[in-house]
Amino acid sequence: MAILPILVAPDPRLKAKAQKVEVVDDTIRTLIDDMLETMYDAPGIGLAAPQVGVLKRVIVLDVAGKDEPPAPMGLVNPEVIWESEETNVYEEGCLSLPTHYAEVERPAVVKVRYLDRDGKAHEVEADGLFATCVQHEIDHLDGVLFVDYISSLKRNIILRKLKKEKEQARSA
Ligand code: NI
Repeated sequence: MAILPILVAPDPRLKAKAQKVEVVDDTIRTLIDDMLETMYDAPGIGLAAPQVGVLKRVIVLDVAGKDEPPAPMGLVNPEVIWESEETNVYEEGCLSLPTHYAEVERPAVVKVRYLDRDGKAHEVEADGLFATCVQHEIDHLDGVLFVDYISSLKRNIILRKLKKEKEQARSA
């Protein structure tokens, strides 16, 4: 297992569309393991492959509560196949937009189809934090960040700050 560097916005790789995984092989299983280790180290509750520069449709998450045992999940080719009309608003953050948060409204309940690390197909119904997190991570596979849901004014302020911080870090 390895901790992978996480891309920080703005970065063209975070705006690209990730490709479907054709075969769930050892390369994908290693990617899932590395992404989980990277996510726990950050720490975060979700991570998508494009955030570590891999344009494949793979996400990991763990939305277990603080007092619950860890519940790592690796989802390959995840897709939302149903969403509720009812919505929820959560304050979202993202490892690719460090220190920035915003309230985002999304469907409260979704059904997601995906392949597990053995290539077996599953369908899961997600609500609460799980629903928000899985939608946020699937968005990453289509180059969508949570700041794309807020006003362009606020988005540009955040992206400009992050860009400046990256430039300062580079010249330091
Ligand atoms: Ni994110």
